[in-house]
Amino acid sequence: MLLPFSDQKSRIKLLVLLMALLIAGATVLYTNVLVQRLSEREQRQIDLYAKTQRYIINTEDTKNLPFLQEQIIEANTTIPVILTNGEYIVDTKNLGLPPHLEPADSLRRLQAVLLEMQRRHPPIVIELPGNTRNYLFYQDSQLLRQLRTYPLAALAVIASLAMMAYIAFSYSRRAEQNRVWVGLAKETAHQLGTPLSSLVGWQEYLRQSERFHDEPIVEELGKDIKRLEIITERFSNIGSVPVLKAENLYLTTRNAIAYLESRVSRKVKFTIETDLPLDTPACINVPLFDWVVENICKNAVDAMDGRGSITLRLRAVKTRRQWWRRRAPRPQVAIDITDTGKGIPKNKLENVFTPGYTTKKRGWGLGLALARRIIDNYHEGRLFVKWSEVGKGTTFRLILNQ
Ligand SMILES: Nc1ncnc2c1ncn2[C@@H]1O[C@H](COP(=O)(O)OP(=O)(O)O)[C@@H](O)[C@H]1O
Ligand SMILES: [Mg+2]
Repeated sequence: MLLPFSDQKSRIKLLVLLMALLIAGATVLYTNVLVQRLSEREQRQIDLYAKTQRYIINTEDTKNLPFLQEQIIEANTTIPVILTNGEYIVDTKNLGLPPHLEPADSLRRLQAVLLEMQRRHPPIVIELPGNTRNYLFYQDSQLLRQLRTYPLAALAVIASLAMMAYIAFSYSRRAEQNRVWVGLAKETAHQLGTPLSSLVGWQEYLRQSERFHDEPIVEELGKDIKRLEIITERFSNIGSVPVLKAENLYLTTRNAIAYLESRVSRKVKFTIETDLPLDTPACINVPLFDWVVENICKNAVDAMDGRGSITLRLRAVKTRRQWWRRRAPRPQVAIDITDTGKGIPKNKLENVFTPGYTTKKRGWGLGLALARRIIDNYHEGRLFVKWSEVGKGTTFRLILNQ
């Protein structure tokens, strides 16, 4: 079960994405239609232009010439054309070449344009008297060329804008989440502090009283106080910049397990194996690390219905150098926590870290979200599901810096 709001959120994301694709698709299609139409119109215009050229050269009717010259030949102010007689360039129009070029330079450019025109359209042949011919080379107008590339440019701009918006949005959302986690944790630690210190006072009072000092109740009260102190310490560590220290990995892990072992069913067997020297250090904040191990192991116990084995294996990992970092990577170590429980289906492997995702009747779905947060943000390590098979078990891998 996922709390409904996250479900809705991913549906909204999908909807926005679909809409963006739709708009993009419509833009491309519509511009294509425009390009098509404009291209046909230019083709008709250039055909008329060629016909007029031929008419002007061949005709003896001089009365209409000024009119044709003005209305058709000079009216073409958009389509670039080059008229040649097969050997020389006779006339050019709308090429957009800069004025005052050196003759050699100008010739080179003309040749380039001519080649380009030849590549696009075959020239229109204009038959002349005396068995000679002119060739009319032409090209799409600048407007048409721009229109062809317009959708690409527009989409690139829109995509980069969307990307920027997304990054800014998720950054601010993450910052907000951080404030909520930190604020809540601080507040909790603070609120627990007062009753806790008065409990410590009561315990002291009982210890010194005639009536109660050798009663088991004092001992038990002491255990609960210890437990409350651990909880307070965890919350206050989440609520502040955590202090990481180089701790002995094996001992720290063993202590975390020893504490848990006494509090879960006897039918769960814990084992620690290590491929590393026993004095291997790792950068750890002990109260937070204990919390992570506890969350993962409690889930394992739930997944095994209180019967099975949990194996923790300390191992070396190869650290990949990240290409965007200049510094050499810090050496890292891993803890693989494997249970013999019911496993996680493949399509849910990432969901288990989403806050609110739980399959339990009385679950909150915060345990793994918190664990990942502690490892990723506070320890700059990584936490992920290394392996899981439905009906066989699951391995969580926890990577820490040394
Ligand atoms: N070791 C595991 N084996 C199988 N499923 C697991 C295991 N650990 C976590 N899960 C799944 O991930 C979910 C989320 O876990 P968690 O964030 O600790 O929340 P909660 O324990 O409150 O459900 C669990 O409900 C369970 O479905
Ligand atoms: Mg849990």
